[in-house]
Amino acid sequence: RLPFSRVTEEDLAFFRSVLPGRAVTDPDLLESSNQDWLKSVRGSSELLLRPRTSEEVSQILKRYCNHRNLAVNPQGGNTGLVGGSVPVHDEIILSTALMKDIRSFDSVSGILTCQAGCVLEDLSLYLEDRDHIMPLDLGAKGSCHIGGNVATNAGGLRLLRYGSLHGTVLGLEVVLADGRVLDCLATLRKDNTGYDLKQLFIGSEGTLGVITAVSILCPRKPRSVKVAFLGCDTFEQLLKTFQLCRAMLGEILSAYEFLDSECMRLLNTHLQLSNPIRDCRFYIVMETSGSDPTHDEEKLHSFLEAAVTSSLVTEGTVATEDSKIKALWALRERITEALTHHGYTYKYDVSLPVEQLYQLVTDMRGHLQGRAKSVVGYGHVGDGNLHLNISSQAKDPALLAAIEPFVYEWTARHRGSVSAEHGLGLKKRNYIYYSKSSQAVALMGQLKALLDPKGILNPYKTLPDEQ
Ligand code: FAD
Ligand code: MLT
Ligand code: ZN
Repeated sequence: RLPFSRVTEEDLAFFRSVLPGRAVTDPDLLESSNQDWLKSVRGSSELLLRPRTSEEVSQILKRYCNHRNLAVNPQGGNTGLVGGSVPVHDEIILSTALMKDIRSFDSVSGILTCQAGCVLEDLSLYLEDRDHIMPLDLGAKGSCHIGGNVATNAGGLRLLRYGSLHGTVLGLEVVLADGRVLDCLATLRKDNTGYDLKQLFIGSEGTLGVITAVSILCPRKPRSVKVAFLGCDTFEQLLKTFQLCRAMLGEILSAYEFLDSECMRLLNTHLQLSNPIRDCRFYIVMETSGSDPTHDEEKLHSFLEAAVTSSLVTEGTVATEDSKIKALWALRERITEALTHHGYTYKYDVSLPVEQLYQLVTDMRGHLQGRAKSVVGYGHVGDGNLHLNISSQAKDPALLAAIEPFVYEWTARHRGSVSAEHGLGLKKRNYIYYSKSSQAVALMGQLKALLDPKGILNPYKTLPDEQ
């Protein structure tokens, strides 16, 4: 534990005066906020603060935590997968759960401005009524907050089409460690007046400031959405199918995801989700989104015909109605959940050149020689992002020693990134040097020192122990 102050009765009295009824100390209520989604790390915070406004966040930090040297763990929906969202020791948990106001939506430009604690799915439903969609979608949509999405620079299932949050987030309001409210909440597509400061906070995992509001560019709701679930015998065929589908579907392609047969087995066993097609080694979930159902239908049909006649795809089914679309997407979105029922999971989230994406899974299986309960691969093929997950009955230090640093060395050798979209948090921070130069990490440390000189914001996260 770094030498931060401990919360005293006097501190509690202050927090209770600023947040009446919203400074939580009941251990039962604190239990779930101290534990991460994967149930892999646990903190021992004795205080959970639930502000409603940016001014309250500012008061908490300025008048208090920074001055008193109290460490703070910003928390959104607590769905993060790298141990960044929960305290390591007794950091105060600052939750955005009550910051749920939608401030404005402009249906001409598609720009939404809202507080950081809005749940992603609530925003999607709000926009759907207004003929728009969120530019991102992920399996955790029912719980994760838009502020948490921005803080982790979440990728998800639509990145292929709408790009990363570095492009779609137009503005942010951020409370800095010393309580200053940084108003970068622009709603402009173009703004080259100096440095684009908001970019610093996208993906900063709560270490540089607390994001309190977001403005984001939202696409029109597509008039026609179709999902195809396809099977291939080899990963090479899956990649060739991707090339074919980029060439033949072009602008209407909105997702290209994959899972392997071992994922399908886990979905069957643990969630009773059945395979809609014949058993194959690899499965593709691909989606088209467009504005003309007939045009999209024709294009998809020609593509599927070409994929089948050239023997790239052996099996497939297509969904156009909502319930079947959801059922097909569940086979991809619920793998994370299926894995939690399978045992303890060592999770890796790497970017690789797309041709080498599955080779890591194959090499890991060879390397572990049956020591793991399962080794599965799934992910965002279209973005060159593999999720390699290795399960064991329970935590297994010997297995971990066999996996790491092998997995990181393999990734670095292939010029990949050791964290494609989940961030570094607590678990991955010391592996940053596999993907970033020491000069880059040193500059990150200087930025941290500039914005948070006492290091009170999410200590022990993102930056490595040694810089
Ligand atoms: P939390 O988990 O609460 O926090 C995550 C990090 O952000 C922490 O470091 C926290 O301190 C910080 N933080 C949170 N809110 C703020 C704020 N307002 N200001 C400053 N810092 C803050 N990720 C992907 O990229 N793509 C996926 O497809 C994807 N799918 C997922 C599917 C499942 C089933 C699950 C459980 C997780 C998935 N994730 C995915 C991981 C995760 O990063 C996202 O769920 C999400 O972006 C985290 O948002 P959250 O509100 O839960 O943040
Ligand atoms: C996903 O793409 O399903 C998520 O990033 C979650 C995971 O990696 O398990
Ligand atoms: Zn993912």
